[in-house]
Amino acid sequence: MIAAMLNAPTVLQRCEDLARCTEEPGRITRRFATPALARARQLVAGWMRQAGLEPRLDAIGNLIGRREGSGPTLLLGSHLDTVRDGGRYDGALGVIVALAVAERVGQRDLPFALEIAAFADEEGARFGTAFLGSALLAGRVSARWLEHRDREGVRLADALDAWGGDSSALDAPPRRDLLGYLEVHIEQGPVLVEANMPVGVVDSIAGQMRAFVTFTGTAAHAGTTPMGSRRDALAAAAEWIGAVERVGRETAGLVATVGDVEVAPGAANVVPGSAVVSLDVRHADDGARNAAVQTLHALATAAAAARGVEIVWAQAHATASVPCDPRLTAQLAECARMVTGVEVPRVCSGAGHDAVMLGEVAPVGMLFVRCAGGISHHPAEAVTEEDVAVAIEVTASLVEELALERV
Ligand code: GLV
Ligand code: MN
Ligand code: MN
Repeated sequence: MIAAMLNAPTVLQRCEDLARCTEEPGRITRRFATPALARARQLVAGWMRQAGLEPRLDAIGNLIGRREGSGPTLLLGSHLDTVRDGGRYDGALGVIVALAVAERVGQRDLPFALEIAAFADEEGARFGTAFLGSALLAGRVSARWLEHRDREGVRLADALDAWGGDSSALDAPPRRDLLGYLEVHIEQGPVLVEANMPVGVVDSIAGQMRAFVTFTGTAAHAGTTPMGSRRDALAAAAEWIGAVERVGRETAGLVATVGDVEVAPGAANVVPGSAVVSLDVRHADDGARNAAVQTLHALATAAAAARGVEIVWAQAHATASVPCDPRLTAQLAECARMVTGVEVPRVCSGAGHDAVMLGEVAPVGMLFVRCAGGISHHPAEAVTEEDVAVAIEVTASLVEELALERV
């Protein structure tokens, strides 16, 4: 039995404990700047102290635990926020595995400081701002994001300040002291299940774009307004949503998703006056993604014009495709081979990760853990103790190897 088998049950139990920190009873929902996320952070801060790390909060609400060491800083971590009605492991697993790794490497002197980050917002589930937490470390927080509003109309800056963050201190310089960033994450897809492998190494992370498209027509009486004289915002949006799916299906390697629609006034007997529609577009090739986004923009304009409806296209977020660091990736792959006895798969991640932002300031390496059925962003997310033990072992071996290289 590998030594990490001792830590894996604790990792799973801690993910279970975090799942109880939720905005919605009976579901796992832990979005940015909510009391549920603060409770999760508090649990993790206690575990950081147990692992010999000194926790601190930064201006955006990231929790960062540090163990001093000579030289630069090796950063491990992932995020603590979730999508609405999400799973136990997306993000949380990476934070808790990082703590297990810190415990494995013990209190001995390392030729670098060790930090574990529990990022406050990777999903963008409340304000549409993916990677907000890790963006702070990369010096990439945009003042524009502070004006984003959630569904209840609360401004991001106001939510952050009321939550104990500091919206006036988000222009901190990028971290330049990082030796590297390592992130363990569930795969959120089927490659490892199909290959029957516990872990895989990430080669690159696909670029992505998110936008909110507002279709504005005229609200009118559903019984008295003739079909020919309507400006039905939802009918225009619906035509376009079909086109989004079609373009996604017809373009190799592209995924295009409408995940949220907000209709107003929202009554059975009123022609919809407005529809705000989310759009998420991803591709490993940035040129192909940009071309698809242009096509979708033109199709939205056409669907709206056919009904006398207007559109406003507001891009919330865009990141280019990010390669993981070739050297760290090769080292991770070698550690994984040593632990499992076989070559593990290389994967391009369709999901976004905090490593996207950290890639701007440090070499990044990512290890994926098999998740049951490849299911994620869903309460049925599941991992096994055995696979988690492998992930701890592989990551701890890499940390030890990085330490050896520097002595
Ligand atoms: C995060 O999970 C994302 O890829 O949307
Ligand atoms: Mn995630
Ligand atoms: Mn996610």
